[in-house]
Amino acid sequence: MYSWPIGKVARLHLNRENVRFTFLTFVTYMTTDLKTILKNKYINKWRLFLLLALPMSAVMAMEMIEADLTTGAGVGAMISFSVRWAVPFIYLVVAASSVQILFPGPFTAWWLRNRKYFGMCFAVAMAWQGMFIFILSTFLREYYFEDIYVLRDELEGSIGYIFLPAMVVTSFSFGRKHLTSEQWKLLHTSGIYFLWAYPFSVYWWSLFYYENPQLLDYLFYWAGFLAFAVRIAAWGKKRQQAASKSGRHNDISTGMTLLSCIVITSGLFAAASGLYWQKTITALLTAPAWSADLVLWFPFWPFEPYLSLFIIGIGTMLLTPGPQIEPEFEPVSRMG
Ligand code: HEM
Repeated sequence: MYSWPIGKVARLHLNRENVRFTFLTFVTYMTTDLKTILKNKYINKWRLFLLLALPMSAVMAMEMIEADLTTGAGVGAMISFSVRWAVPFIYLVVAASSVQILFPGPFTAWWLRNRKYFGMCFAVAMAWQGMFIFILSTFLREYYFEDIYVLRDELEGSIGYIFLPAMVVTSFSFGRKHLTSEQWKLLHTSGIYFLWAYPFSVYWWSLFYYENPQLLDYLFYWAGFLAFAVRIAAWGKKRQQAASKSGRHNDISTGMTLLSCIVITSGLFAAASGLYWQKTITALLTAPAWSADLVLWFPFWPFEPYLSLFIIGIGTMLLTPGPQIEPEFEPVSRMG
């Protein structure tokens, strides 16, 4: 009876080199394929924008028809509904450059290439929200000032709405030419951080202060956290690379590595456990009278939602040696 040389075949196929070769061929094939797909003009630039913004606006219009825009509660619901469409886009914009640094590849390249158009989709959803805010504050003033208006929220929201059109206009060459590249960078970087900080803090408070958070609150909080955390990780990676270039990659002692890991883990723990420390930390940070006064008007003060990310940032700084800082002046030789 003829029997298959199974052992031989298995040995041949499970040979490590063979597996590696098959895997690499598969990855190359998939990457080339993905690269081609992601270069398709229909999912890039303005076509991608239309592909996302048009259906989104259609859904918004349909929801508006259903809503009761004669009541404060109805308009309030539309404000929330529209901004929920905006939030994922600002997170995509915030994370775009960092995911490309951390995971270079065709998908992250596509993501970064289309960052501006994701930003435009954010602007469209925010324009819807702006319209509902206008309806509420103009035609339902009593409800607005009794149920909604808080000076600090108003200031935070208005700053957001100042950044937004300024960023949109300067995303086109006719607006951009009025700014130097430093001014442009300052406007867009601070705008993106501010517009990320607003929803992130809204969902942080939903989870760790208000009762009965919804599934969407969790989702948007953790997505916002992740969007910023990848920025920190990318920053750490660049510091590490800069250190390696100047031959300093081994400059961090084992003790320091351990300490940084503890700090980063504490940051992660803080991100998930706000419910247990929010009251104490808020009381502590607002104990001085000047700090308690700032709460009334200074946007986001005293920054509780961002503490966990701040701790993770410190841990990352300790973990990575960073670039060599060249002394500005040559030290004077003691040997004369
Ligand atoms: C002056 C400007 C603004 C006003 C008057 C305003 C007003 C409101 C109102 C009335 C709600 C609904 C609250 C509720 O359901 O109890 C809301 C929700 C929200 N707003 Fe604003 N807003 C402003 C600007 C902004 C900006 C610039 C952003 C972010 C970039 C933003 C993000 C949010 C988020 C994330 C929510 C929660 C949505 C949810 O329920 O999931 N808002 N806002």
